[in-house]
Amino acid sequence: MKTLKGKTALVTGSTDGVGRRVAEQLGLAGARVLVHGRDRARGECVTADIKAGGGAAEFLAADLSALTEVRRLAGEVERTSDRLDILINNAGVGSGGSGGRQQASVDGHELRFAVNYLAGFLLTHLLLPLIKRSTPARIVNVSSAGQQAIDFDDVMLARGYSGAHAYCQSKLAQIMFTIDLAEELDGTGVTVNALHPATYMDTHMVRAAGHTPISSVEEGADAILNLAVGEAGANRSGAYFNGLREARALAQAHDAQARRRLRDVSLVLTELSASAQQN
Ligand SMILES: NC(=O)c1ccc[n+]([C@@H]2O[C@H](COP(=O)([O-])OP(=O)(O)OC[C@H]3O[C@@H](n4cnc5c(N)ncnc54)[C@H](OP(=O)(O)O)[C@@H]3O)[C@@H](O)[C@H]2O)c1
Repeated sequence: MKTLKGKTALVTGSTDGVGRRVAEQLGLAGARVLVHGRDRARGECVTADIKAGGGAAEFLAADLSALTEVRRLAGEVERTSDRLDILINNAGVGSGGSGGRQQASVDGHELRFAVNYLAGFLLTHLLLPLIKRSTPARIVNVSSAGQQAIDFDDVMLARGYSGAHAYCQSKLAQIMFTIDLAEELDGTGVTVNALHPATYMDTHMVRAAGHTPISSVEEGADAILNLAVGEAGANRSGAYFNGLREARALAQAHDAQARRRLRDVSLVLTELSASAQQN
């Protein structure tokens, strides 16, 4: 990997799984890495590993199931960083682990929609001024090949809930956001792309859903880094990748009207609408 000296990267959900591997690789390449998760002990273990490898890292704790925590995290990044070259929205809750019961975020939203999508939507918007001051900069949204169209009459899945449905709609929402944001950022020097890193990596999320791992976090991390620091993410924006290759997302992602509906819902739920109208 090319040297990342002088660059700052924030990787959400880097206390575990593929995010941890990405954070460590960015640290090895010389970036200052902002490690994020909920668990301080795990976070400090990752920052210690990065420092032991000669890198610089700090841990920022925030529970992304609370929008106030997302705002606090963004504030902390702005206070401690004069630049943000790389933002990787990676934190996520998988499809399993709830015994089929619907779960809600602190704000009362469907949990996977809130953590996997809405938190990244808000965090990215709050950090955009800093990111735009750090060009050329990149945003990577870690989505999935598991995608499900959103029913705008039942975004919170009050009817017919399943963990897989909730997970897959949140992952499509990330791709829809990516396409919209790329249009908005055209010409600014900031690229944004989404990807499926790898299938059933050996992580907590996969094991909690009862799946047998079939790929490694190394494979997934390479795909994320391809967009975050490699050639692919320098020249392309608004794209969806399956691993290292550009691919086509589910049809709804390419429906501009559906994307507008998702954006409107998201601006209201994150209470960004008032400030968005002022800009
Ligand atoms: N694993 C796969 O095969 C696969 C396939 C396709 C896509 N993906 C995507 O890849 C990303 C990483 O997945 P993974 O398999 O590496 O998962 P993982 O090992 O379970 O790690 C998830 C990370 O997200 C953080 N996180 C979860 N809930 C959070 C919350 N409420 N607030 C803040 N942080 C939270 C966890 O932090 P804590 O330490 O606080 O728990 C952890 O650092 C996800 O977006 C996932 O959808 C994974």
